[in-house]
Parts: sequence; C-alpha cells; structure tokens
Amino acid sequence: MTTATQLDNLAIAALQDMLINVAELASQAKQAHWNVRGAAFLTVHQWLDDLAQNLRAHADTLAERIAALGGWPDACSETLSERNSLESLPFGALTTGQALAAMDNGLGRVAAGAAAWLRNPAVDQVTADHLTGLCRDVQNQQWLARAQQ
Ligand SMILES: [Fe+2]
Repeated sequence: MTTATQLDNLAIAALQDMLINVAELASQAKQAHWNVRGAAFLTVHQWLDDLAQNLRAHADTLAERIAALGGWPDACSETLSERNSLESLPFGALTTGQALAAMDNGLGRVAAGAAAWLRNPAVDQVTADHLTGLCRDVQNQQWLARAQQ
C-alpha cells in the first residue's frame, strides 16, 4: 500500500525534476536575451526577457509547492548544471533564429517532462494541477517561439 509520505515524496521528485529544467531554461532565456543579434532583434530580445520572467515565476511556484509538501527545493547552479536535461546554449552571439530554435527545443523538453509526470497516476491532483498549468503555459510559449521563426 502506498502511504501519504510516499505520495508526497513522488510529488516532490516530480516538482524538483521540473524545477531544474525550468530554472535552467529561465537562465538560458536571459543569456539569449543578452546575446541575440540580427533580424527582428528588438522583438526577440524583449520576448526572451518576458520568457525568462515567466519561467522564473513558474520556478518559484514549483519550489514553493515542494516546500509546502515538506521538501527542500534545490535550484543551486551546481544542481542545475549536473541534473538539467536541456541542450547547452552556445557561448557568444546567437542569431534570432538560433535563439528562437533553442527556446523552442527547451520549452518542448519542459512540456514533455511535465506531460510524462502527468501520466503517472501516483502524482496527486494538486501537484498535477501545477504541472498542467506549467505545461499549458510552456506549450503556449513554444508556439510563440515557433511563430517568430
Ligand atoms: Fe535586459
């Protein structure tokens, strides 16, 4: 029989897993915001800043849900670099096309991660609601990234 603690631990694992990629992608979006160059610069530069802000807000929500369940949210740089499953952003200048493609890819991975956890019937409904909101928002942002390419 699955206990409440085991269910909370599973939810914490799901939330922590998502927190790592969301926090890493927020950092990448800011990096791209600073290093993007080229066509439609101002639009993409601004959108990347909005995306970073949006992802940081999601990271905060995920982290506080972990804390509410009795866990210890971890988005330290060491944890992010060791455990994220995103592609690295190349150093230096990025064309707007490269920046948008990188965000498209990263957002897709975050959405896929959330969808995978949502298929796990042991994830509680409140945590699932958080993951659904994240997935919905990230898929919307992915559409914005694709529509600008
Ligand atoms: Fe800025």
